[in-house]
Order: sequence, then structure tokens, then C-alpha cells
Amino acid sequence: MARTQVAIIGAGPSGLLLSQLLHLHGIDSVVIERQSRDYVEGRIRAGVLEQGSVDLLIKAGVGERLLSERLVHDGFALGFADRSFRIDLRRFTGDAVSVYGQTEVTKDLMDARVAGGGKLIFEATDVAVEGFDGERPTVRYLHEGRLHELACDFIAGCDGYHGVCRRSVPATAMQAFERVYPFGWLGILADVPPAAHELVYSNHARGFALCSMRSATRSRYYVQCALDEQLEAWPDSRFWDELRLRLPAEVAQSVVTGPSIEKSIAPLRSFVVEPMRFGQMFLVGDAAHIVPPTGAKGLNLAAADVRILYQALVERYRTGSTGLLDRYSERCLRRIWKAERFSWWFTSVMHKFDDDAFSHRIQLAELDYLTGSESAQASLAENYVGLPFDTPP
Ligand code: APR
Ligand code: PHB
Repeated sequence: MARTQVAIIGAGPSGLLLSQLLHLHGIDSVVIERQSRDYVEGRIRAGVLEQGSVDLLIKAGVGERLLSERLVHDGFALGFADRSFRIDLRRFTGDAVSVYGQTEVTKDLMDARVAGGGKLIFEATDVAVEGFDGERPTVRYLHEGRLHELACDFIAGCDGYHGVCRRSVPATAMQAFERVYPFGWLGILADVPPAAHELVYSNHARGFALCSMRSATRSRYYVQCALDEQLEAWPDSRFWDELRLRLPAEVAQSVVTGPSIEKSIAPLRSFVVEPMRFGQMFLVGDAAHIVPPTGAKGLNLAAADVRILYQALVERYRTGSTGLLDRYSERCLRRIWKAERFSWWFTSVMHKFDDDAFSHRIQLAELDYLTGSESAQASLAENYVGLPFDTPP
């Protein structure tokens, strides 16, 4: 039977980053992925990195293209009541965020793993994780028509929300917390210059809209939509019209339209599972928690889990101590819940929930309060740039 130290299920950002950091510390891993490499590298996801995530990517040796191509944003705007209000991240936190697509992060990590001789298995089917309750965990999978068995010390479940790892844990051993929102985001990517230099999150009576970007020539826009919305009902012209209706006039005027190069609908969900460790198996990133995309915390939370897990594994292999591994769940969850709270709050304030006029007035009052209170702005800024990794108990 083949053997490795850490079997990593899933080659998304969590699995690739973990594998890369372990490799740099002399720990062997195998990454087992259900999809093809092209599929994984082509997925379009969010694009805002906290400085802590940037620092970890630099540590992982994949900072070069990120540092040269990223856009550093010192602030972002809130649109509401036909006005635009800037949240000054730099002033309130001394920090900023980096705009750099998750698609690019994934490509950089993939290239680094391949260059480093990493063992990556794509298009593996029927992946099964077994024996993680005891000392001999194994992963079984089918690849190119053959059954493979991989023995390991630890399993890292980096296989996203729909993965097999969390589903392999008995329901009685964990508790799940969930909130499903009654709407989705319809997003498009287009090779047009962004409407504004910074992101604009807009609350509008017709529904939420977001102006984001990937570069000075590539824009990413979203509008809130019904969950049963069909993409065919949204030709580009309808999307651009709806977007402009939902933005403050000064921003709407600056929207440059063009053909979309990607269009998709994503549901919004808050989800956390506790604990994140089951014997020798550790859940990482989307496998353990989901946030709605308002605030772009998904990838940043995944990076924070990887940071804690790779340090714990390094300690275990260097000294034999399981002290950090034993605290993995608790350390991750403490910060995750704060990011869940922030993403839920930002979603609640910015979206149209129903036709309840009272709720909309309350949202506008909250946004108006924010524009008049520096402490409220500081709190929003602090959460947006990313909370510290470890706060005292
Ligand atoms: N076997 C092997 N691989 C699997 C399986 C399985 N049974 N199920 C899922 N996978 C793979 C998926 O194909 C995907 O490539 O696991 C990977 C999980 O990657 P992500 O969903 O990107 O999750 P993660 O790496 O934790 O990254 C978190 O991605 O979803 C965004 O917003 C989220 O930014 C966050 C980030
Ligand atoms: C994106 O650029 O895709 C993006 C940016 C900010 C968000 C969500 C998504 O809050």
C-alpha cells in the first residue's frame, strides 16, 4: 500500500496551500482531487485578500506574481440612498486589502506544487476516507480505472462544502449551524475597466449590487437575484441595465459595459460545523464553514485554517507534541465565528430581504448611523481587513 504523512483531499486553495507549506517544512503529502486540473484552475471565485492571507502566500513561496499584480485597496465604498460613502481602511486600521483573484491564487499554488514535485492526483473518483478514528487512517480512490489505497498519519479534509470528508463523520459526532439566505448573487466578469477605483457595495430598493474588479481592465460585478433565476433570462444587456439602476448615479455613470466572459449564479449560505477535528482527520476551509460572499471572507478563512494546521503538523513531526493539533478546532472556530458574524451582518445590512418597508428603513438608518460614527466605521474597517489570528482567551 502507498504511504504518505498527510493525505489531503481536495486541490482547492486550502489543499494546495497546505500541501505547499508542508512541503517547505519537509512533510510529505499527496493531494487527491475529484476534478481535472483545468477545471480547478478555471473556477471563478472572489478576489479580496486580507494582509494575513498575503503574508501566508508569501511564506508559501507564491508571493511573486501576487505582489506584482495585486491592486492594493485602502478603502471601499458603501452605496445607499443614491450616495456613496467611503470606508477608509487605512485610516482606521493602518492596513489595506489586496485585490487578486482566487483563480490566480490557485494557479500560482498549482504551479508551485508541480514545480516542487508535488504528488497531485486529479480526476480521482469514489474517494473514501477510513480509519481516522484510530492510528491507521487510509484513503481509497479510483484513478484511471484502478483502485488505490493510501495509508497516512493524518487526513486533511480540504474538499469544500460538498466534499466527502465531513460526510464521513457520524452525525452524532458533530453539530452543524446553518443559515440559508432567500436569494443568490448573479455575477459577471467582463474585460472592461472598473466603474470605480475601489469596490462599491450598494444597498438599493431593487436589491444589492457590487462593483468589483480583477485588474485595471477586468471587472467583476454582481447583482442580488432570486434563487430560482435562470441564466438564460439574463442576457448581458439586462445585467448592465439592472446593475446601473442599483448603483449611486455617480458610479452608474462610470460603468463601462462590454460582453461578459463568465456569468454565474451562486446561492448564499452561512454554515459552520463543530468540531473541525475527528480523530486524525482535520476539516479545513469550505469543508468546515461557509460564509456569504459579502465581505469576501471565504478564502481568507480557509487560509487561516491552513496556517493553524500546518504549524500544528510541523510541531507534531518536529517534537512529537500534539499540543497544537489538540487546539486546532478551538483556535480556528474562535476566529471563524467572528467572521461568520461579520459576513452575516454585512449581508443583512446590504440586501433586500422582502418587501418589508420597515426593514429597509432600518437598514438605511444603520448605514446613515455608520456614516456619522467613526467608531462604527472603525469596527467595519477592522473586520473587513481581517481580525487578528490569535486573541488572548
Ligand atoms: N474527492 C476529492 N476532491 C473533492 C471531493 C471528493 N469527494 N469533493 C470535492 N472535492 C474537491 C473540489 O473539486 C475542489 O477542487 O475539493 C476542492 C475544494 O475546493 P474549494 O471548494 O475551493 O474549497 P477550499 O479549498 O476550502 O477553498 C475555500 O474557496 O469556495 C471558495 O469562497 C471559498 O474562497 C473560499 C475557498
Ligand atoms: C469579487 O471580486 O468577486 C468579490 C469582491 C468582494 C466581495 C465578494 C466578491 O465581497
